[in-house]
Amino acid sequence: MTNIRAQITGVHGYVPDYVLTNKELETIVDTTDEWITSRTGIKQRHILKGENQGTSVIGIEAVKGLLEKTNTNAEDIDLIICATTTPDMTFPATANLIGDAVGAKNAFNYDLQAACSGFIYALITGSQFIETGKYKKVVVVGADKMSSIIDYTDRTTCIIFGDGGGAVLLEPGSPDFGIMDSMLKSDGSGAQHLHMKAGGSRKPASLETIQNREHFVYQEGSAVFKFAVTNMADAAAEVMQRNNLTGDDIAYLVPHQANKRIIDATARRMDVGEEKVMLNIHKYGNTTSGTIPLCLWDYESQLRKGDNLIIAAFGGGFTWGSIWLKWAYDPK
Ligand code: COA
Repeated sequence: MTNIRAQITGVHGYVPDYVLTNKELETIVDTTDEWITSRTGIKQRHILKGENQGTSVIGIEAVKGLLEKTNTNAEDIDLIICATTTPDMTFPATANLIGDAVGAKNAFNYDLQAACSGFIYALITGSQFIETGKYKKVVVVGADKMSSIIDYTDRTTCIIFGDGGGAVLLEPGSPDFGIMDSMLKSDGSGAQHLHMKAGGSRKPASLETIQNREHFVYQEGSAVFKFAVTNMADAAAEVMQRNNLTGDDIAYLVPHQANKRIIDATARRMDVGEEKVMLNIHKYGNTTSGTIPLCLWDYESQLRKGDNLIIAAFGGGFTWGSIWLKWAYDPK
């Protein structure tokens, strides 16, 4: 173990222009703005429209903005990890498409898939490359075009998800700031409750899979809710306890934006008031790998060097975890 810590030195986000409001969803499925708002906290989500527009469009915009605001030369990037559940293609990796578009000629790039925990898995993976001392600039992207795998005749899922994402730059720094601790967990027995039935190697696309609408998110909402509410809160509490952190020490909870009720339960367990909870689910819905970088982007101007952040996520797999991060810079 070296004395180097991985620090986030910049963040940028991107959401597509088109806004799908709860009001518009009322015209598509049998639902109401009141039901969606009270059950989830979501008022609208952004949707990436147009032919040949994949998740890379979101990633490219986020990384371009990140390089510009951090004054980073694309050729200095060592590695791009893209957390996504909706890659442009099964292969090559979306991270490669992003790397090519931004001119990261010297980077090696790959995708990582852990559903809604994808960004925290990728952040911890990327931080290891920095902490070994081998690499100096790692870009971690979390982006999803969830609208590409959502059934807009299924009112139980189409109200939740949106498109968007963000990217952070990881660089080495002093041990006093950066990623201080983390815990990541998986339980594959949860796959039955949240998955996509076809399109993978087990059940490749066929006329039958299309007719059966099997290329969309399948979710048992209340089962997922129960696992999410317990595990996200437990993960956040565990990382706090083992580092002797109390609610008073925390500047912000950065929760995966799945459902406002899950976020509230996590905040209660951590004993932090709602003024300390990053929240943008009302604007973007659940953007899967995109939620956490979008939170950091939206709140960047309010963060101060030394702020303790607890990041917590839960997702399909099941996957979940939490990170204690000491913010490394003041607003620029
Ligand atoms: N509009 C109106 N009614 C709806 C609806 C909608 N969009 N979606 C479901 N309903 C109905 C159901 O059909 C059901 O009706 P019934 O009682 O007549 O059968 C009723 O509302 C309750 O459904 P239920 O699924 O029990 O609702 P819920 O309170 O569990 O809320 C979710 C549904 C999906 C919002 C909630 O389960 C949830 O957020 N789960 C976690 C999802 C998640 O976070 N996924 C991402 C993982 S990271």
